[in-house]
Amino acid sequence: MPRPLLETNRLVLQRFTRKDSTTLDDAIRSSLPELNQWLPWARMDYTPSDTHAFIRESIQAWKEERAWDYSIRTQEEPRRHIGNISFWTVSKLGKIAEIGYWVRSDETKRGVCTEAVNALLAETFNSLGYHKVVLRIAVGNDASDRVAEKLGFTREGVLREELLIRGNWVDHSLWSLLDREYRSARRGATTA
Ligand SMILES: CC(C)(COP(=O)(O)OP(=O)(O)OC[C@H]1O[C@@H](n2cnc3c(N)ncnc32)[C@H](O)[C@@H]1OP(=O)(O)O)[C@@H](O)C(=O)NCCC(=O)NCCS
Repeated sequence: MPRPLLETNRLVLQRFTRKDSTTLDDAIRSSLPELNQWLPWARMDYTPSDTHAFIRESIQAWKEERAWDYSIRTQEEPRRHIGNISFWTVSKLGKIAEIGYWVRSDETKRGVCTEAVNALLAETFNSLGYHKVVLRIAVGNDASDRVAEKLGFTREGVLREELLIRGNWVDHSLWSLLDREYRSARRGATTA
């Protein structure tokens, strides 16, 4: 089982509780124009009851070990939700996990997503023994592609018409990182 609380110098990643509704809803509402472009669930008529439903489902998914969602906070302001990051197993046999994320719009371009994904990579590779981690990124989502690049992921190819977003079937790039690539990149970073 993943740990319910992960920390970096700047960030705290914690599993959701019912008390997180207000701050999560505020983050979603203030970021809808950006989230709406790439995430099917982020409809412009998104309501607080959708947030309640998300938290209920997230708590249930942890219990059933289906998926693990974390609320991203800063050490400085731990009560303010600044983004979501989640992972789930896509292949038990292949030991493959997928990560998904978003960051509230007034906190983007500060390295938050890269730092949060890096924290989950440590958990998936070092603690949980996954062999491969993948990201599926809509073609044209340059900020998300950049996160994958910065963390050393390789673009494997394009998944055609992978997701229906606002009525359009959108191609997605499949990016992946192997456990040995993760370890050798981090070893290089500490000895450089
Ligand atoms: C994608 C997203 C999570 C990135 O979060 P973030 O915290 O800003 O990410 P980081 O700051 O760690 O890195 C973003 C990188 O993309 C770059 N970037 C941002 N917007 C960009 C754009 N339009 N074109 C090219 N690069 C861009 C940033 O400059 C940064 O790179 P740098 O460090 O080399 O300067 C955030 O933009 C977001 O939530 N978008 C909407 C939802 C979404 O797309 N989720 C991902 C679905 S796969």
